[in-house]
Amino acid sequence: MAVIGGGAIGGAVISALREGRLPGVEPVALVDDRPVQGAGVPQVDLATALDRADVVVECAGQAVVAQSAAGILDHGVDLLVTSVGALCDPAVADAVAAAGPGRLLLTSGAAGGLDILSAAAAQAPLTRVAVTTAKLPATLVQPWMDGPAAARLRGTDRPVEVFTGGAREAARLFPRSLNLAATVGWAVGDLDLVEVRLMADPSAALTRHLIEAEGPSGAYRFEIQNLPSPENPRTSGVVPYAVLRSLAALAGRPSGVI
Ligand SMILES: NC(=O)c1ccc[n+]([C@@H]2O[C@H](COP(=O)([O-])OP(=O)(O)OC[C@H]3O[C@@H](n4cnc5c(N)ncnc54)[C@H](O)[C@@H]3O)[C@@H](O)[C@H]2O)c1
Repeated sequence: MAVIGGGAIGGAVISALREGRLPGVEPVALVDDRPVQGAGVPQVDLATALDRADVVVECAGQAVVAQSAAGILDHGVDLLVTSVGALCDPAVADAVAAAGPGRLLLTSGAAGGLDILSAAAAQAPLTRVAVTTAKLPATLVQPWMDGPAAARLRGTDRPVEVFTGGAREAARLFPRSLNLAATVGWAVGDLDLVEVRLMADPSAALTRHLIEAEGPSGAYRFEIQNLPSPENPRTSGVVPYAVLRSLAALAGRPSGVI
């Protein structure tokens, strides 16, 4: 396998694979647009990585999915995506749907409960899906915010709501923070059903996600509290291990519960 993006997620995935955590899955290349020291695998361009790998794991951001996903799939290489929010753009979703023979796969990432939500939506379409996320304020500052707004957000001493709306708009405005909402939308087969509420909470030492869903199959409520990654506080530390779980399933070595 090859990784695009040798940061908090990609670096941890490569390290775990080099330690032999998943027999039969070998990291052979890293693609990154900055030099990555001590990656432990050759850093190459994407074309070279595609010639060496059966699977590419994207851990680099929405722009990489938008620019490269269709080409990777057309090359016959499977693509495991972490920046799921990229698929909220209909042009990207259409391009990957038309591409192949490689397969597009999404990791569960920071989310949980996707298995039963997907099963429930298959039984009968869900009628309500909501995701409420609370993160440390500084991790939610965006380049489109003006100086005073960014300073107010950073300096808040109480929880403030920074966004309510749909998953597509959430992914556009907070591209590195709301991949979970997009993943839930993909799992239930309807991105437009997902209502998102994003809170900046100075007490959110753990990133909190409340996932709620209702439909003819039942009612579902999951609360997740993830410790942020020490390398990147916008990312939950569990995400590389969700990627490893996805790779185990892809390699035909699922870890028990599938
Ligand atoms: N699905 C989830 O639950 C979830 C959770 C957290 C993060 N994510 C996604 O994972 C991505 C990576 O997270 P991270 O914490 O590892 O980020 P990070 O900033 O620590 O690392 C990103 C790496 O990608 C590289 N990169 C950026 N643009 C690139 C490009 N165009 N081509 C090649 N390399 C490029 C950077 O140089 C960096 O090394 C995030 O941007 C986010 O979209 C998903």
